Amino acid sequence: MKPEYTAYQNSPHSRVKCVECHVGSGAGWYVRSKITGLYQVYAVITGQVPRPILTPIESLRPAMETCEHCHWPEKFYDRKQRNIISYLADETTTAWNVHLQMKTSASNSALGNAQGIHWHINKDVKIEYISSVRNREKIPWVKYTNLKTGEVTIFEDKDEKLTAAQHDTLAIRKMDCIDCHNRPSHNYQAPQNFIDELITAGKIPHELPDVKLVAMDVLNQDYSTSDSAMMAIKTQVDEYYSAMYPELLETSKKEIEKAIAGMQEGYSQNFFPKMKVKWTAYPNHIGHMETNGCFRCHNDRHTSASGKVISRDCNLCHSIVAQGTNDEMQISNSFNPLEFKHPVEINEEWRTKLCADCHYKLY
Ligand code: HEC
Ligand code: HEC
Ligand code: HEC
Ligand code: HEC
Ligand code: HEC
Ligand code: HEC
Repeated sequence: MKPEYTAYQNSPHSRVKCVECHVGSGAGWYVRSKITGLYQVYAVITGQVPRPILTPIESLRPAMETCEHCHWPEKFYDRKQRNIISYLADETTTAWNVHLQMKTSASNSALGNAQGIHWHINKDVKIEYISSVRNREKIPWVKYTNLKTGEVTIFEDKDEKLTAAQHDTLAIRKMDCIDCHNRPSHNYQAPQNFIDELITAGKIPHELPDVKLVAMDVLNQDYSTSDSAMMAIKTQVDEYYSAMYPELLETSKKEIEKAIAGMQEGYSQNFFPKMKVKWTAYPNHIGHMETNGCFRCHNDRHTSASGKVISRDCNLCHSIVAQGTNDEMQISNSFNPLEFKHPVEINEEWRTKLCADCHYKLY
């Protein structure tokens, strides 16, 4: 379980024991997890475990009994501000900032009654869904029950309606914490994201020309072992700079070495070829950039009989309060959120396409 343990050590739950989430105090769950746990250890040793291990894993304790042991969902969470720095794959590795105010809980203003993101786990709300694929990446059918009034609304993806046979065989799942927070302690990041973090942290020198471009080139190839990846990162980065910027091999030798070490570190924390573990095997459902996450349902295609849609309005879940390059930032506040500006010219295609349509395979 090297991938799980490595990612776990870098997570906000690194001080929470594995068994707090994977084995509960109830006797029934304990027995079940212990048995499947033993089987997994055995299977890893004898090489029988499916690679990657299939998720969702059935032996996880229900979220209501684990997460809610420590977190209190009815609690009011202040709107958290997420300041995200991304870098473009251009010559100067231009920094692009987005400051989002996340609408985690209800807005405590007298205006309207919008509940915010944690509305889905409100005691008066029940959301159920059917996924047409095992890993829950596709959700063509959603049912919302207002437990106070008994009112029911069914939303169907108008492009991908389930057949009668699918309705008969596929399970209905009640939405809980794990349907959004599915990677609370094992988050394998896409290269574009962990490279951005390493540049911001100074572990990959921002001043090296083309540094993100090179990283994307090298890290978006498939390697069969970690050792071959480590070697390829070194060889290809060296080759790139000797071909494109031969003078830098002398003047920026240290920076190039540092960039290589940074990329190797990022790779070894997020890719585990032996177990076939990487971000595409375990997509994170919070957000909507590289994979659809929230946009599995919030994509303007899920419609009810009366014509209601599950909205993709850019101000539903967050307010953009700042965006732009370091030299040219648009700044506002949560009362006047900014209209999203895409960092590079794409003919406003983000309005009609989902972000992941391009961002899943951008490099
Ligand atoms: C904060 C809760 C939490 C903690 C702590 C935690 N896990 Fe997990 N783990 C999860 C969740 C949630 C999943 C994904 C469930 C899903 O998608 O069905 C998961 C999935 C897994 C998987 C399946 C493969 C994968 O990567 O998704 C393994 C194996 C695993 N955990 C092992 C561990 C080990 C070993 C530890 C301790 C080092 C640990 N977990 C600690 C919540 C946790
Ligand atoms: C044993 C207690 C415990 C359990 C069980 C637990 N958490 Fe946490 N969780 C914490 C603590 C403590 C923090 C704060 C860590 C910090 O701020 O460094 C945290 C932080 C978080 C955060 C905020 C992370 C961030 O980046 O700010 C989320 C989201 C979260 N937990 C979700 C979950 C989910 C979902 C589960 C169930 C799968 C879960 N937690 C189970 C103790 C727990
Ligand atoms: C509809 C998706 C969804 C569901 C369901 C959900 N969450 Fe969240 N939660 C989010 C998002 C999105 C955020 C904001 C995260 C961010 O951008 O940092 C968040 C934030 C949090 C935080 C951090 C709050 C803060 O401001 O520090 C905790 C803790 C948390 N959730 C726990 C839970 C628990 C426990 C459950 C289940 C009872 C749950 N969530 C269910 C989407 C969800
Ligand atoms: C399984 C489908 C599903 C998923 C996945 C999902 N949602 Fe929702 N969400 C809904 C439905 C259904 C509604 C209610 C639509 C309506 O009645 O207008 C809703 C409503 C909301 C609302 C408005 C709540 C209010 O104030 O009334 C917010 C905010 C929201 N979702 C955020 C998120 C975020 C953030 C994520 C991803 C982390 C997410 N949702 C994932 C189904 C989903
Ligand atoms: C259903 C809720 C929801 C809707 C609708 C939504 N977002 Fe988001 N968005 C999120 C969540 C959740 C995140 C992840 C925040 C985090 O990383 O903690 C996010 C992240 C982002 C980011 C930062 C991405 C990154 O990592 O670089 C941008 C930019 C963004 N959203 C723009 C948009 C735009 C533009 C729209 C409208 C087309 C939109 N969002 C609609 C929930 C939503
Ligand atoms: C038509 C394809 C396309 C669509 C659709 C699209 N993007 Fe992009 N996006 C790009 C390209 C190309 C770049 C430039 C990549 C680079 O230079 O590294 C980019 C870069 C970005 C960046 C900065 C670099 C990074 O990786 O974070 C952000 C932030 C971003 N896009 C947000 C979004 C959001 C949010 C959406 C959906 C609302 C979206 N994009 C939809 C093509 C697209």
